[in-house]
Amino acid sequence: MATNLAFAGKTVLITGGTGSFGRTLARRLLKEDACKKIIIFSRDEWKQWEMEQSDPIFYHRAGDVSKIRYFLGDVRDLNRLIRAFNDVDVVVHAAALKQVPAAEYNPTEFIKTNVIGAMNIIDAAINCGVQKVIALSTDKAVNPVNLYGATKLCSDKLFSAGNVYVGSKRDTKFSVVRYGNVFGSRGSLIPFWQKLIAENAPALPITDLRMTRFWITLDQAVDFVLNCSILMQGGEIFVPKIPSMKIVDLANVIAPNLPHKVVGIRPGEKLHELMIGQEDARHSLEFDKYYMIVPEVFSQDPKRLKEFLAGRKGNPLPENFAYTSDTNTQWLTPTELSGFLADTHK
Ligand SMILES: NC(=O)c1ccc[n+]([C@@H]2O[C@H](COP(=O)([O-])OP(=O)(O)OC[C@H]3O[C@@H](n4cnc5c(N)ncnc54)[C@H](OP(=O)(O)O)[C@@H]3O)[C@@H](O)[C@H]2O)c1
Repeated sequence: MATNLAFAGKTVLITGGTGSFGRTLARRLLKEDACKKIIIFSRDEWKQWEMEQSDPIFYHRAGDVSKIRYFLGDVRDLNRLIRAFNDVDVVVHAAALKQVPAAEYNPTEFIKTNVIGAMNIIDAAINCGVQKVIALSTDKAVNPVNLYGATKLCSDKLFSAGNVYVGSKRDTKFSVVRYGNVFGSRGSLIPFWQKLIAENAPALPITDLRMTRFWITLDQAVDFVLNCSILMQGGEIFVPKIPSMKIVDLANVIAPNLPHKVVGIRPGEKLHELMIGQEDARHSLEFDKYYMIVPEVFSQDPKRLKEFLAGRKGNPLPENFAYTSDTNTQWLTPTELSGFLADTHK
């Protein structure tokens, strides 16, 4: 899609801008000169410094004309967010704690960042007159079985409901983009396996040979977020149509000669992921390349629903539809997998 349509002339703040998604979005916007200014908002000064040094496009020196700025802050800190959101038009909320096992051992920390952080983003955005907020979500938020997913479900609900609190004098819109596993993102399976291979491990650990996941590349995730930032009217959860993959197929592509060691599903993991459950499917629409979950609060208010759907040509989903990684109609072939792996090394 034309990146410059989405954020042309806008000041864009990316919470979690030093993370896998944040960097990819920032690089795209800078490369295509597609916005007025980018602000990277995150906690760790070292990660910001490392990002700045990693690519001349990210380099900023006080007084120079570069479009990127770095802002230290924590989404748990409302006052800091209010300071950061001054004169910001669009917020892409990518900051999160996301490691499933860490969430089980540190639930309070995940709640503070992923839930209270979401509440703070909503309050700061409304107070500062931010026009659009797009929050990133995950398939793990659907019928969650781990605390990470539960906090992201709370976050999704908060952003949907945030539209109701804006009031008539302001015009902030909140929407959510939900997708599945990201190829090669920080802390994910691919870097973990690659480390084992580099250390000459005798076998690749696989939780379950039947396990499937939805897969998306960082570039596709950025494209989708940019598209949704144009489509959004506030309250939608946008879900891209993306392929599934068997974990065992990925293992065969990444290390064709290594045997597999089945280690069992970890606590808080599902055998297959779910992007839209049957209950949400009843108030969702299907478009060519994505699904849109209509906020339940609108689906019970015929006048508001009519306004919300005006000009949108989506189709209702069939009875008992659920968008799951094992019943998906799109699958990645080993050749496509090899291509994605090659891209993650570039
Ligand atoms: N990766 C995936 O497979 C995947 C799949 C679906 C959805 N998502 C969602 O996509 C979003 C981005 O994921 P990602 O893979 O880019 O994550 P990531 O690489 O782990 O980056 C997380 C970012 O958030 C920042 N952060 C963490 N806690 C913060 C806080 N309290 N205040 C401010 N910044 C904070 C981190 O920087 P500091 O530590 O320096 O603060 C970092 O910049 C998340 O919402 C995640 O749930 C990811």
